[in-house]
Amino acid sequence: MEKLKNDLFLRACKKEQIDRTPIWIMRQAGRYLPEYRKVRVNSDFKSMVKTPELATEVTLQPVDIIGVDAAIIFSDILVIPEALGMNYEMVESRGPSFDWTITHESDFNRLSKSDLSDKLSYVFDAVKLTKKKLNGRVPLIGFSGSPFTLLTYMVEGGGSKNFSQIKSLIFNNPEFAHKLLEFISEAVSEYLSLKIKCGVNAVQIFDTWGGLLSPDLYKEFSLKYIKKVIDNVERTDEPIISYAKGIHHSLIELADSGADVVSIDWTHDIGEVRKLIGNKVALQGNMDPTVLYANTDTIRREAVKVLDSYGHGSGHIFNLGHGILPDISPANTKALVDIVKEESKRYH
Ligand code: CP3
Repeated sequence: MEKLKNDLFLRACKKEQIDRTPIWIMRQAGRYLPEYRKVRVNSDFKSMVKTPELATEVTLQPVDIIGVDAAIIFSDILVIPEALGMNYEMVESRGPSFDWTITHESDFNRLSKSDLSDKLSYVFDAVKLTKKKLNGRVPLIGFSGSPFTLLTYMVEGGGSKNFSQIKSLIFNNPEFAHKLLEFISEAVSEYLSLKIKCGVNAVQIFDTWGGLLSPDLYKEFSLKYIKKVIDNVERTDEPIISYAKGIHHSLIELADSGADVVSIDWTHDIGEVRKLIGNKVALQGNMDPTVLYANTDTIRREAVKVLDSYGHGSGHIFNLGHGILPDISPANTKALVDIVKEESKRYH
């Protein structure tokens, strides 16, 4: 067994007794860091993702600069649609754009999940190199999009305002949606299993778009496949974190999905969520990312509110309710990490 110097994050995932609450930040390797932008000047986003040395370099930045208790491998959820046969470009200040989208049943034949481990070898090489460079300082998290969130991109072709395409598919051809979700679930399970084999200590499933659906459709088209992935990931004791946004209606079901940790957005009161599901799973979250626009006193007040709401005892991993925004100051981010490290002691 690997000996980690700081394993607070993993112990909190397992609800073990610890001295303080661990913190990491979704999208912690990114544009808010000048050190990230410096690497990015010479390289486009996809080249960074596909070059293990660069991916490793930016993965380590928030550990060194911000002092977070876990690293998350620098990559993107869109590497899976790409490996399945859908090329995309990351358009500057506009976001991802796919070369083609799934519109007809015959498009299924353009997808292939053969040789995933070869097609995604750059991710696995980045994981191995990062583990080496981390040298046990903190755990490394691997991640994937949820099947529904990935299908949303594959059908919409990028970001979307009304999500008309994915919703039309669900209502007009639910059988085809299920066939695609089944196929993507198998790819995601294999992908996360391979990441674990290469050394990640935990995995997070990002279901950014599941909350677009009504409660019954969320269960049918998103949660069902998150469960399927959790059931099929090959692991020993690596925790699985399920990130969900806007699913107040299905917290109990998500806690019963087999995930070890449920990661919630800032619209929940984390103390209430703990009462509801905290005996089954650890909780991650959930400060509003925009609090980081405020001054340090306000950041302290809001961070303590989250700690206080969760209350005494283990099973809490501090994080934001969604990814950090690109125009946040690194100094405020570092201040948050220091505040959580200091203020959380009295809850343990
Ligand atoms: O958290 C980390 O530090 C690890 C890296 C990471 C990225 N994307 C890097 C990234 C992770 C975990 C993701 C996940 C991701 N990617 C999600 C799920 C989480 C969430 O935020 O909801 C989604 C929906 C995507 C898809 C994606 N990638 C979009 C829509 C965009 C464009 C919008 C944006 O933020 O620029 C990206 C680009 C992206 N992924 C960047 C980074 C650092 C910015 C790219 C740049 O340098 O220009």
